[in-house]
Amino acid sequence: MFKKKTIRDLDFKGKRVLVRVDFNVPINDGKVGDDTRIRAALPTIQYLLDKGAALILTSHLGRPKGEVKPEFSLAPVAKHLSEVIGMPVKFADDCLGDIAKETAESLKAGEILLLENTRFHQGEKKNDPAMAKELASLADIFVNDAFGTAHRAHASNVGVAKLLPSAAGFLLEKELIYLGETIANAAHPFVAILGGAKVSDKIGVITNLLGKTDQILIGGGMANTFFAAQGFQMADSLVEADALDTAKELLAKAGDKLQLPVDVVIASEFSNQAEYKVVPLGDVPDGWRILDIGEATVAAYASIIQKSKTVVWNGPMGVFEFPNFAKGTFGVAQAVADADVVSVIGGGDSVAAIKEAGLAEKVSHISTGGGASLEMLEGKVLPGVAALADK
Ligand code: 3PG
Repeated sequence: MFKKKTIRDLDFKGKRVLVRVDFNVPINDGKVGDDTRIRAALPTIQYLLDKGAALILTSHLGRPKGEVKPEFSLAPVAKHLSEVIGMPVKFADDCLGDIAKETAESLKAGEILLLENTRFHQGEKKNDPAMAKELASLADIFVNDAFGTAHRAHASNVGVAKLLPSAAGFLLEKELIYLGETIANAAHPFVAILGGAKVSDKIGVITNLLGKTDQILIGGGMANTFFAAQGFQMADSLVEADALDTAKELLAKAGDKLQLPVDVVIASEFSNQAEYKVVPLGDVPDGWRILDIGEATVAAYASIIQKSKTVVWNGPMGVFEFPNFAKGTFGVAQAVADADVVSVIGGGDSVAAIKEAGLAEKVSHISTGGGASLEMLEGKVLPGVAALADK
């Protein structure tokens, strides 16, 4: 059961609503690149407008370190939002001070204002009470729909939540249902697919999921560290030397729940142009490195995925930016898409891979969070969520 108040629980008619969104999107040459996060906030924005609210949207963009840096301005986002929602979006070039106050006060029901990057102020990351108070003074109600930022305890998501009546937006609710409740009450067999470069980034996730899943399928650079921990020579493969003991402990704890690749693609250099071949697992010859899982592994993983009821996936299976080493990641993506399962995908790279494979429509949920989704998989309570009012 979802324990936090959501926007269904409050009355917004004639209210000014401060909505924290995560519009931390790529900006290329002054234009929004991938706008997934903006589109993901539309259901909440539309709902609040329909209910008669005036909306003051806040977000951060990038890491400007508490200074005004034009390349991190949200102005292009206001323009883009206006295009996708098909109505004007006002923009205030400071989230604090007279500009923010006057623009917010003049806002009428049914209008949208986007405030400039909250991280242009030092107080944001420090969760400064004075900054939170000033932001809260702009509105009657606070709505948090910024799942991607929910693992941060900042002024614009945690500070303000304590000062106004608050509720979760639809995106935040959906993310928490998939990454929280679906995983906590997963239908079995429940399989996790974990990849990416480093074991050290995923220790918390593996430890938490060992207690919940039936199997964990490992790929990506992190598999090399497990191989090295088992005594295989990895030659020029990426291995985290200082995570070897942790890898050994995880292997001992996991028993056969942790599934490692049975074959791998090795390359003569770190390049798409490199000479490459698929080899069974064993010592990697001098001068070579592992860049992907092999086809026997893809087949084995696909068969496990096909028999499962719930799948959660975080991290690519190889260097999928290089087409010659993308087959493992795309093969697993295809298996997840083809299976009759509840599938949850989190983390920037695996999300990029499923989109690139054209399979995004075939999974149950693609998270808009990177770090936030990882912390959910670690079983942590996110501060941005904890700060919201309970039902
Ligand atoms: C993200 O992109 O993961 C969020 O917007 C949080 O950004 P941050 O890692 O700079 O806090």
